[in-house]
Amino acid sequence: MKVMVINGPNLNKLGKRDEKHYGSKTYDELKSLIVDSFIMSGHTVLINQSNSEGKIIDLIQEADETCKGIVINPGAYSHYSYAIMDAIADCHIPVIEVHISDVTNRDDFRKQLITGQVCDKIISGKGFNGYIEAISEILGE
Ligand code: DQA
Repeated sequence: MKVMVINGPNLNKLGKRDEKHYGSKTYDELKSLIVDSFIMSGHTVLINQSNSEGKIIDLIQEADETCKGIVINPGAYSHYSYAIMDAIADCHIPVIEVHISDVTNRDDFRKQLITGQVCDKIISGKGFNGYIEAISEILGE
């Protein structure tokens, strides 16, 4: 069964964002890490990124019909998107929210995780490893 990874706004700019919070690795390196860790060994992991709220909701709805689970980093939408929160709440599959940075130790507005409150788990502050942990958990490995 497939796992869908959904990355939200500005995550395509990894490598050019604030290194203090996101490190120096690029979005392509994140994709390669997932390919090497799972896809090379035969798992199907669909890796997506969008800067648009509507597209992210379309992907969540698609995954709910076709995948075993979702790993989502909604970026800044995590802190205010009730529309993405509703889409996750309507899912019948496990959803794990990942944040590369430690959102509990940054600006106050980042401490509010609107989407995370309806996710099965939140992994924050573990860098790219957070994705590996989340995908492994969905695959039951
Ligand atoms: C982020 C944290 C968010 O607050 C921020 O807006 C992002 C990335 C993270 O992965 O740490 O774009 O989701």
